[in-house]
Amino acid sequence: MKKNSGNEFKTVTFTRSKVVDIDPQILSDKRIVMALHNDLRANYFRVLRTNILKQLRENNWNSFFVTSATPGAGKSFVSINLAIAMAREGNQSVLLVDADLRRPSITETLKLDCQYGLTDYLGGLTQLEDIMINPGIENLVIIPGKDSKLNYSELISSPRMEAFVKDVKYRYQSRVVVFDIPPIFVADDALLFMSYCDAALFVIEDEKNTADELHQSLSILEETNLLGIVLNKSKREIPSHKYGYGYGY
Ligand SMILES: Nc1ncnc2c1ncn2[C@@H]1O[C@H](COP(=O)(O)OP(=O)(O)O)[C@@H](O)[C@H]1O
Ligand SMILES: [Mg+2]
Repeated sequence: MKKNSGNEFKTVTFTRSKVVDIDPQILSDKRIVMALHNDLRANYFRVLRTNILKQLRENNWNSFFVTSATPGAGKSFVSINLAIAMAREGNQSVLLVDADLRRPSITETLKLDCQYGLTDYLGGLTQLEDIMINPGIENLVIIPGKDSKLNYSELISSPRMEAFVKDVKYRYQSRVVVFDIPPIFVADDALLFMSYCDAALFVIEDEKNTADELHQSLSILEETNLLGIVLNKSKREIPSHKYGYGYGY
């Protein structure tokens, strides 16, 4: 807040996020269907968005992480499209954090040119404001993971990480924070994020995992609030549409 010349207080909006526009060809190549014009496939994410926002609002939650059993399920694909869908809804801003520090991919997928990422911030090399990027979509800010020489395993469980999560969760009202994190069987990051976040979204790549892997993953996620399960890369035909992903619960 900043006092102006009169007696009134004026709100100062935080506007230091760097704006980086994304090439439409990249959006198309990487299936960022929520950012394409009139792409019917975006409807899946609109339905998912409505379902998730309803649960967040009803429970007064504002943060969740996206994980899967094993790599390549489509966590980042779902996180990016869902974050855009929630930002487009217009009732809240969305912060998408690439917290898969072992395999960061959001900036690479969107070809966002950024100097620093979350690891650099956690390592004390930069300010939070300097790692926030607005990808040219209203109400959306991205914090990149970015490869770094710093040791991410220690950083993920550091007090600075915990402070970072608290900071981004409470800094602004009407904000949803989405954390794209590593798969459950790759690291114990999901256990950490369960204590950091209000809820989880689980992405399954169709026909990829054994029943045992899925049972184990779901029993780990029993410790948090499961918002839903996205069935991704499904080869099954979805009524009235043939695109290969769906969601279910
Ligand atoms: N529904 C889908 N249809 C086709 N390709 C997909 C789909 N979801 C993800 N992909 C592709 O699969 C690869 C892995 O997805 P990604 O989101 O990076 O997985 P994760 O983050 O779980 O490791 C990427 O090349 C991505 O573009
Ligand atoms: Mg990923």
